Amino acid sequence: MTNPLDSTQYTLTSILKYERIYGHNFISPGGLESTREMVSRLGLRPGMRVLDVGSGMGGAAFYMAQTFGVQVHGVDFSRNMVTLAEARLQELALGTRVTFAYGDILESDFHEAFDLVYSRDAFLHIHDKPRLFHILYRALKAQGQLFFTDYCRGDGEMSEAFRAYVAERGYDLHTPRGYGNLLAQAGFTDVVAEDKSKAFGEILRQELARVPEEASMMAIRRSWEEKLARNARGEQGWGWFWARKP
Ligand SMILES: C[S@@+](CC[C@H](N)C(=O)[O-])C[C@H]1O[C@@H](n2cnc3c(N)ncnc32)[C@H](O)[C@@H]1O
Repeated sequence: MTNPLDSTQYTLTSILKYERIYGHNFISPGGLESTREMVSRLGLRPGMRVLDVGSGMGGAAFYMAQTFGVQVHGVDFSRNMVTLAEARLQELALGTRVTFAYGDILESDFHEAFDLVYSRDAFLHIHDKPRLFHILYRALKAQGQLFFTDYCRGDGEMSEAFRAYVAERGYDLHTPRGYGNLLAQAGFTDVVAEDKSKAFGEILRQELARVPEEASMMAIRRSWEEKLARNARGEQGWGWFWARKP
């Protein structure tokens, strides 16, 4: 099955444009800097097995394997992303410590295989959240940890403009509290849902300042300005989430 994202949001051209904003090998807010901060809170130890859901170009997988000596398996439902990630992997001396596979996480069949399931800003593309969390719960070993970040929506009514943006992108967004409830319903314990919407606004401002003044980057500039305005209105936020399989 082919994912339409390869011909819409994640064409090769648009991935490489996004990378100019997020930084080398990253397509998520804060790039390597936010990754360092999050990963430092995950208690990684050499030999642990990590599943990176929606691993993109592999920036986080490379960082975790290089810095903590963990094994990372990335799954991504964009052939363009997986092709780029595999090419970038060749440039690094990581042997088999990092692997990538093309596929829809909803079709995966992992059983008690991972110490950590990690995901950055990928779940917004996945509508069936109960099924997603069931699959991730099953993929974890007992006492295993789930950590992810995702775009969120605010508590208030969605404006017409915000609705149109979400529909055009095909996103499924939740409030941080709503996400926390879904995790608890899936059987996770020690659920922490952190509303990072304010930090998201600061990151968006820094990223906007980095958008090159080139005609080819004007659409990206506009989309960052719009995200920032939605964030300021309390419509578009961001959350960080921790949960444990008992
Ligand atoms: C915003 S990008 C983030 C990429 C990467 N996590 C990063 O931080 O750079 C979201 C990624 O999720 C992937 N994705 C979307 N739906 C997916 C699914 N059902 N299964 C696996 N990956 C998916 C997309 O192809 C894309 O690479």
